[in-house]
Amino acid sequence: MPARQRIVEEIAAAGGWISFARYMQLALHEPGVGYYASGARKFGPAGDFVTAPELGSLFGRTLARQLGDFERVLELGAGSGSLAEVLSGEREYLILETSAELAHRQRERLGPRVRHVQQLPKRFRGAVIANEVVDAMPVHLVHWTGRGIMERGVGPGLAWADRPAAGELLAAAQRLPASAPYVSEIGLAARAWMRTIVETLEQGALFVIDYGFPRHEYYHAQRSTGTLMCHHRHQAHADPFARPGEEDITAHVDFSALAEAARAAGGEILGYTSQAQFLVNCGITDVLGEANVENALHYAPIAAEAQKLLSPAEMGELFKVLAVGRGVTAPLAGFSRGDRSASL
Ligand SMILES: C[S@@+](CC[C@H](N)C(=O)[O-])C[C@H]1O[C@@H](n2cnc3c(N)ncnc32)[C@H](O)[C@@H]1O
Repeated sequence: MPARQRIVEEIAAAGGWISFARYMQLALHEPGVGYYASGARKFGPAGDFVTAPELGSLFGRTLARQLGDFERVLELGAGSGSLAEVLSGEREYLILETSAELAHRQRERLGPRVRHVQQLPKRFRGAVIANEVVDAMPVHLVHWTGRGIMERGVGPGLAWADRPAAGELLAAAQRLPASAPYVSEIGLAARAWMRTIVETLEQGALFVIDYGFPRHEYYHAQRSTGTLMCHHRHQAHADPFARPGEEDITAHVDFSALAEAARAAGGEILGYTSQAQFLVNCGITDVLGEANVENALHYAPIAAEAQKLLSPAEMGELFKVLAVGRGVTAPLAGFSRGDRSASL
C-alpha cells in the first residue's frame, strides 16, 4: 500500500485529523511504506540528497581522530553505511537503525565489522554518533495566530488543518519568543530521544551532527514559516504533501532544545560548534596532508570534499556538532577552539 493511501486511511480513522508529527512518522518511517523504510535509493548522486559521509572518507577519517579514546561506538541511523565503513574495524561498532531496509543494506555492505542492535542498550559506555538523524525525526508544527497558539496538523485530502494547541506542545510553544503570525516546528520526539540516550550513557559522549541553530536563531522573527523542507532528486522544496513516502522531509534542529533535554536528564554539554570548526579542531588539515598532493587526479576530489565540508556557503556553518555526555573528564579535541556552548 502506498504511503498516501495509508495516511489518508489513518486520517479518516482518527476522525479527520492527525498531527504533523504523526504524518511525518508515517511518510518517513512507517514499515513498508515510509521513505526510509522502503526501497528508494535515497543517498548519493543517484538518490535525493548527499550527506557528509557520502561525499567520501574525509569526514569519517577526521571524526575518527575524535573517537580515538572511546572503546566502542554506537552509530544511530547509519544510512547507506558509509560512515561505519570508515570508522568500524578497530573497535566494537554497533548500529541502531530504525529502517529494516537500510539495516539490511548496511549488513550487506559491512558484514561482521558491525553488530546491529534493535534497541538502545540499557547501559552504554562509549561514543554515540547521530549524523543527520535528528533532522529526520518527526516534528510538531505550531501556528502562532491572533486567536492564540494552534497546532498545525493534517486533515482529509492531505491539507493543513489547525486546532488549538494543548499539553506539552502548548507549554513548549509558550516558552518560545515567536509572535503571530508565525509557523514553526517543535521537536518533541527529538527531546525525548535525547533524554533516553543520556539516561543510557553510563560513561561516554553523544555527538549530534546536523543542520540547525540555537533557539534565538531558530525562532528568529524573519524565519516566520519555519524550516520544514523536502528533498527529491537533489531539489529542495517546501510541500510535504507532494510525494509522501517517496521523498525526504526534514526540519532543522533546535540545538538549544536538545541541550536542555540533555541537561534535564543529567547530561553535561561537552561542546557545541560549527562542523567546520569541529573538523578543523580534529585535524582535518593533517588528514588532507596524508593525501598525495602530487597526483592531481587523486587530490582534486579530496580537496573538493574538504571544500564542501568546511565552506560556510556549503556544510561548514549551517551544520553543527553538539556533544553531550556523562563521566567524560578530558576535554574533547573537536571543541578545543571556537566552542559556542554559551550560545545554546
Ligand atoms: C538522513 S539519513 C542519514 C544517514 C547517515 N547517518 C548519513 O549521514 O549518511 C537518516 C538515517 O536515520 C535513520 N533514523 C531515523 N530516525 C532514527 C532513530 N530514531 N533511530 C535510529 N535511526 C533513525 C534513518 O533510517 C536513516 O538511516
